[in-house]
Amino acid sequence: MKEIQEQLKTRWLGRNFIYRDGVTSTNDAVKELADQKAAMGTVVLAGTQTQGRGRRGRVWESPEGHGLWFSLLLRPAISPKQASALTLATAVGLCRGLDYYPGLGATIKWPNDILCDGKKLCGILSEMNAEPEKLHYAIIGICLNLQAGYLSDTVAPASVGVEDILQEDVKEETLLCRLLLGLESAYDQFFQSGFGLLRQEWEERSMLMGKQVHVSTVNGDLDGVVLGLSDEGFLQVKLDNQKVAHIISGDIQLRGEGM
Ligand code: BTN
Repeated sequence: MKEIQEQLKTRWLGRNFIYRDGVTSTNDAVKELADQKAAMGTVVLAGTQTQGRGRRGRVWESPEGHGLWFSLLLRPAISPKQASALTLATAVGLCRGLDYYPGLGATIKWPNDILCDGKKLCGILSEMNAEPEKLHYAIIGICLNLQAGYLSDTVAPASVGVEDILQEDVKEETLLCRLLLGLESAYDQFFQSGFGLLRQEWEERSMLMGKQVHVSTVNGDLDGVVLGLSDEGFLQVKLDNQKVAHIISGDIQLRGEGM
C-alpha cells in the first residue's frame, strides 16, 4: 500500500494515510487518532481486524488479503441530525468509485450496503462523537470484499467480491484510490450544497425504488413499497394501509427474496 500517495488524486481525503497490518477495528484506530486531533480526511487501512464490527453489534469478518477494511475521519460543520445522511453520501461516493469498473453494476441498498448481483459487496459502519447540538467528528468504516469465498459459511452465500465478479485480479491500491476519489467528491458536494443532489443520485443508484419490502425496526416490522428518501435521508415506505412511514434505521428485505 506504499504506492497510495503516488496514485491518490484527492485533495484532502487520505492525504494522511496510515496502513496497519492488524488492528482490533479500523474504526477504533481512527477514533484514537481523532482524539489526538488527527486531521479531517485521515484514513486507516488494515490488513486484518481482530474485532471488526458491523451494524447492530454484528461481528465483521476481515480475512487478510480478501478485502479492503478501512475507516475515515470526517470533521464536517454539520449538526448531529444531518450526520445520518453521511452514510448515504458514503454509499453514493463508493458507487462513484466503483463506476471505474463498469462490469460491477453496483447498486445501493438502504441504508448502508452496496450490492452486486443482489449480493453484498460493501458495508458501511458510521460512528460519531457528538453532543446534542454539536458534531465533533464522524468515523466512517468501510469494508469491500475482494473475494467472498474466504468468508465463513454464514455470510459467504450472501456476499460477493470485486474479483469474483470481474473474474480478474484487481490492484488494491488503484481500487482504494478510486474509492477515495469518489468519496471525496460526494462529501464535498454534501458539505457545500447539502443532501439534495446526492439524494437524487442515491435514488437513481438504489435497487429498492418502487420495490415491495419487509422492514425490521426496533419498534416492529413493516411491509410496503419504497418511495424514496426524505430530505433528512429517512427511507419513505408506503405501507399496505396507504400511510407513509419514515424509517430512520432498520433492516430491509425485498419481499419474497432473501436480500
Ligand atoms: C455492516 O454492513 O454491518 C457494516 C460493516 C462495516 C465493516 C467495516 S470494516 C472497516 C470498519 N471497521 C470495523 O470494525 N467495521 C468497519
